[in-house]
Amino acid sequence: MGIQFRKEEQEFHLFNEEMSYIFSVLPNGHLSQLYYGPRVSTEQSYSYLIQGGQRSLTSYIEGYENDLSLQHLRQEYACYGTGDVLSPAFEIAQEDGSRLSHFKYQEYRVVSGKSSLTGLPATYSTTDYPAETLIVELFDDVTQTVLELHYSIFSSLPVLARHAVFRQVGEQSITLERALSLNLDLPDKDYEWIHLDGAWSRERHIQTSPLHQGVQSIYSLKGTSSSEHNPFMALKRPQTDEHQGEVIGISLVYSGNFLAQVDVTPYEQVRASIGIHPDRFSWSLSQGQEFVTPEALLVYSQKGLNGLSHAFHSLFNHCLVRGEWKGKERPVLINNWEATYFDFTEEKILELAKEAAALGVELFVLDDGWFGERYNDQAGLGDWQVNPHKLPNGLPSLIQNIHGLGMKFGIWIEPEMVNKDSNLYRQHPDWHFHHPKRFQSPSRYQYVLNFAEDAVFENIYQQLYQLLSSHDIDYVKWDMNRYLTEVFSVHHQAENQGELFHRYVLNVYRLYDRLTQDFPQILFESCSSGGARFDPGLLYYAPQTWTSDNTDAIERLSIQYGTSVLYPLSSMGSHVSAVPNHQVSRITSLTTRGHVSHFGSMGYELNLLQLSEEERQQVKEQINFYKKHRATFQYGEFTRLLSPFEQDIVAWQVKSADTNTVLIGYYRKLIQANEGFKRIYPKHLDEEAIYEYKGQSFRGSSLMRAGLVVEPQDFEAGFADFASLLIELKKR
Ligand code: DGJ
Repeated sequence: MGIQFRKEEQEFHLFNEEMSYIFSVLPNGHLSQLYYGPRVSTEQSYSYLIQGGQRSLTSYIEGYENDLSLQHLRQEYACYGTGDVLSPAFEIAQEDGSRLSHFKYQEYRVVSGKSSLTGLPATYSTTDYPAETLIVELFDDVTQTVLELHYSIFSSLPVLARHAVFRQVGEQSITLERALSLNLDLPDKDYEWIHLDGAWSRERHIQTSPLHQGVQSIYSLKGTSSSEHNPFMALKRPQTDEHQGEVIGISLVYSGNFLAQVDVTPYEQVRASIGIHPDRFSWSLSQGQEFVTPEALLVYSQKGLNGLSHAFHSLFNHCLVRGEWKGKERPVLINNWEATYFDFTEEKILELAKEAAALGVELFVLDDGWFGERYNDQAGLGDWQVNPHKLPNGLPSLIQNIHGLGMKFGIWIEPEMVNKDSNLYRQHPDWHFHHPKRFQSPSRYQYVLNFAEDAVFENIYQQLYQLLSSHDIDYVKWDMNRYLTEVFSVHHQAENQGELFHRYVLNVYRLYDRLTQDFPQILFESCSSGGARFDPGLLYYAPQTWTSDNTDAIERLSIQYGTSVLYPLSSMGSHVSAVPNHQVSRITSLTTRGHVSHFGSMGYELNLLQLSEEERQQVKEQINFYKKHRATFQYGEFTRLLSPFEQDIVAWQVKSADTNTVLIGYYRKLIQANEGFKRIYPKHLDEEAIYEYKGQSFRGSSLMRAGLVVEPQDFEAGFADFASLLIELKKR
C-alpha cells in the first residue's frame, strides 16, 4: 500500500496489491481522475491519459482553447459553473445568488490510518487492516471556502474510502445545496449497472441493467435508506459473473436520503455519483463552520461479484462493526413477535421462554407491546415504561425469571416514533415533524419525532437510559416502522428547514452512539419494518439487522442472496417461523426453514409450544448443529453459487476460517417434472486436499471441476417443492 505524489506532473497515485487509483492537478487547479483499476506501475506518470483536443459545442479551460475542456476531462469531485456540464458533486449557494465555484488545488498531506468523521459512522483501520489517508485541500477564492477531499486506502483490502469536508473561512455565509460523497468518472461505458431494490418484505433483490446514454439513478427521499433501494451500486463488465471478471462496488455509509446515479455522456464516459440526496437538502455554513459528507466506499474486484462481496464482508466485519460484539458469536434467539403479536401476558412469555430454553435457545427477545398503553399499534409509542397490566410483576421480575432459565434477555424499542395516544404526545404535541397549518400523514398510526430538536432527543435518551440502566438487558432490537413525511420543524428557523433530514439522521447516530457507549455489553439489532434501514451506517452501531419481515424460507432465499452482495452473514438476522408462513402463506418443511436460517444470525420466531414432539427434537438438533458451526455460519467466507434470480435451484456455501469445513446450502424452489441431472460445484476448496462427504472421499480440485452429484433422494423432503439439502464437506 502506498500514496505517491509525482511533483512534476502533480499526480497522486494510491495503490495496494490489487488496485491503483490515480488523479492529477489540471492547469486550472481542478483535479482530474486518470485511472481506477488493477494495480499499475508507480514507475511512470499517467498524465498521457489527460485527453485534450477540439470538439464542437465545447468550452475550454482559459488558456487551453481547443484543447483542455472540463466537459471531457474526467473530474475528481466535479464543481458547478466552470465548464463541467454534468451533474456536479456539490453546489454552493452564495449571498449574491451565484452557484458558481472554482476550487483550486492548494496542498496535500498524507496521514497514517484513517480519518474518523465527526458525528458520522465510518470505516476505521486496525493493526490487521492498516490504511493510509491522503487529504487534498482545495480553495475557492470568491467564497473563501476550503474543500478537503479525503482518500483512505486499505493495504489488505481492495477498498478506497472517500469523503469531503467543506470549511467556511470567509465572512460570507454559504449554503450547500448539494454535497455528494463522491463522483467517480470512468473512461468507458462498457458496464452493467447493479443495484439492490425491492419493497417491504421483498428487500434487496438484485437488479442488473445495461448502461445507456443519460442518467440512471436510484434514491431514497424517505428519511431512511429504505427497503425500496439500498445505498449501493456496482458497475460490472458484461462478461463478469459471480466468480470472475471486473466489478466496482460503491456503497454509502449513511442511513438517510441518498442518491446513487450513473450518467453516461455522449462521449461514452461514465460519471457515477453517490451521496446525500440533494433534494430536500441544504446546509448553511457561516465563518468557522464545516460540513462533513458521509463516507463512500469504493471496492474493486477482478474476482467477480463474489470477490466484491468477500471484500465488503471483511471490511464490514473488521473495519466497520465496533464494540464488544465485533467478531463475537451471536446468540440463538427466540422472538415472540410472530408467536404472540401484541397479545401476550407474563405467563405466556414465560412459558415460551421455558420451552425455548429447553430446546437450546440462548436469548429471549420481548418484541413490541410491553410498554405504555400498547395493546395494538395505535397507542403507546413514546412511553418507554412497562405496561403494568401486561407485565404486573414488572420487567425486573420477568428478566430475572428469564435469566434464571439460563437465557439472556432482549427488548424491543422504537425510539424515533410517537403515537398521538401516548403520554409523550399529550405532554408535547409539537414534538413530531409536522406543519401546524397542514395535514399530517399517519403511518401505522404513528408520527416521526423531530429528532433534529435537542429537547426531543434528550427526552428519548433519558427514557432509554432509565430503561437500560435499571434493568439487566442484554440485547436491544431498535425498530423504525415508517418513513418521514411533513418534515418541518416548528423549532427551527426558515433557513434551517432544509437541514432537517440530515440532522434527524445525525441525531439517530448520536443516540446510538451514546447508548452503545453507556451500555457496551448490549447487543443491538437494528430493524425498520424488517430491512428498510439495512445499511453500513447503522452497522457501525448495531452489528446485526433484522433482514426482512418476510420469514418465508423461499422468499428469504432471494432476500438473503441479494443482501449478501454487500452485507456479511453475521449482520443478517434470519429466523425460523411457523407455517403456513404469516407473510405469504407458504408451507415449507422445518428442515428447509432451518437450512435457510442457518446462513446468518439464527433465531426462532414462532410459538414453540405448538410444536410436535418430533419437531421439538428437530429444533434441538438444528440448534445444536448451528452452534457447532456457528462461527462459520456467521463469520465464514460466504460464496454465492446458484442464483434464485436465475433459476429454481439455489445454492450458496460458507467456508470455515481454518478452511477445514465447507457448508453448502442447496435449495429447490419449484420442482420440474422429469428433472434434469444435477451437480453442485463448490468453490474455493484446497485443490490438493481430500474432502469427505457421506462416507466418500473427493479431492478438492475434482469437486470444484467435476462437481458433486446431487440426487433427488438426497433431499429429506424427496421429490418435492421447497426441498433443501445441507452438504457438509470436511477436509481430511
Ligand atoms: C416491525 C418488525 O420488523 C417486526 O419484527 C416487529 O418487531 C414489528 N415491527 C413490531 O411492531
